[in-house]
Amino acid sequence: MDVLINQIEAFKQEINAFNVTDKTSLEEFRIKFLGTKGLLKSLMGEMKNVPVEQKKEAGQLLNECKQFAEARFEELSSGLSDHQDNGPALDLTLPGTPMNVGGRHPISLIQNKIISIFARLGFAVAEGPEMEDDWHNFSALNLPEDHPARDMQDTFYLHKSPDWLLRTHTSSVQIREMQNKQLPLRIICPGRVYRNETISARAHCFFHQVEGLYIAEDVSFADLKQTLYFFVKEMFGEDVKVRFRPSYFPFTEPSAEMDISCLICGGGGCSVCKRTGWVEILGCGMVHPAVLDNCGIDSSKYTGFAFGMGIERITMLKYQIKDLRLFSENDLRFLRQFSDAV
Ligand code: DAH
Repeated sequence: MDVLINQIEAFKQEINAFNVTDKTSLEEFRIKFLGTKGLLKSLMGEMKNVPVEQKKEAGQLLNECKQFAEARFEELSSGLSDHQDNGPALDLTLPGTPMNVGGRHPISLIQNKIISIFARLGFAVAEGPEMEDDWHNFSALNLPEDHPARDMQDTFYLHKSPDWLLRTHTSSVQIREMQNKQLPLRIICPGRVYRNETISARAHCFFHQVEGLYIAEDVSFADLKQTLYFFVKEMFGEDVKVRFRPSYFPFTEPSAEMDISCLICGGGGCSVCKRTGWVEILGCGMVHPAVLDNCGIDSSKYTGFAFGMGIERITMLKYQIKDLRLFSENDLRFLRQFSDAV
C-alpha cells in the first residue's frame, strides 16, 4: 500500500511538472498520463498487489488520482484554446466584412474644385514652403519693415530668428514663382497659412488660401474681372451676383475686394451677410510695379493681376457651415457628410 501511495505522489508531481505549450505537447501529456498504455493505466494495474482489506482505500486513492489527471488535462487544453485557437472554422460562404472607405475633407474637396476650375483657364498649380523668410512673405510684396499693413496679419515668428516666420498668406508663392519661372506666368497657389488669431467660430490660427497670379504683356483689370466672374459662376452657379469694391493691398494697385450675393438669404439680408445681402470672398488687384521690379520683371513691359481667397470661407458658403472650428476638430459625424459631395 505504501508503495502505491508513493507512486501516486510521484505521478501527481510529474503531472504538475509537465510543461504544455501547444497542441502537440498537450497530446503528449494525454498519451503519457491518460493513454491506454499511460501511467494512470499502470497505476491502476497496481491494484492487484494491494491486500484485500486495503483495496477499498486504494481504490478511492486511485480514483482521486484519475480525477486529478483528467482535471489537469481539461485545464491545460482550455488554457490553450483561449490563446491559440482561431475559433470556429472559416466559413468562406459568408459575405465579407465591409471596409470603411475614407472620404475627402471638405476643404480638400473645395480646393480641388477651385484647382479644376482655374485649370480650365490655363492656370497651373504652384506650391511653396509654409515656413518663410520675411522677404518672401512681406518685403518683396511691397511691405517693407515698419509698414503699417504688416499689422493686418498677426504673424507667428519662429524661435530664435525674427527673419523666419510661418507664412501669413500664399502671396509669398507668387514671389518665388516670379523669381524662378519664365513669363508668361499663370498660376494658382493653394496652401495652408498661419496667423496669430484667437480661435473662434470665425477665425483660426491656421487656415487655407488659394492665390492666383497672371503675368504677361497687356494683362488688364478686365481680364481679372472676367477670370473671377468665370470662377464664381462655376463654383456657385449662374444666379449668383458679383460686385467689386475698391480696397487696399500693398502688393496691388489698384486693389479691390470681391463680394458675392449671399447664398443663404439670396441677397435679402440675414445674419451670415450681416443684413447687407453680400459676402466678401476675395481680395485682388493689378500687381504693383514695385513687386514686379522686386522679382526682376520689367514692369514697363509686363503687367499682371493677382487675387487671394480663403478656402474655408468658400467652403462655409458652399455648404452653409457656420463654425470654422469644425474643419479642424476631426469629428467624424461632421466629416462623413462630405464623402461624396461636390
Ligand atoms: N494676401 C491677401 C490676404 O492674405 C489676399 C490677397 C489680396 C491676395 C489681394 C492677392 C491680392 O493676391 O491681390 O489677405
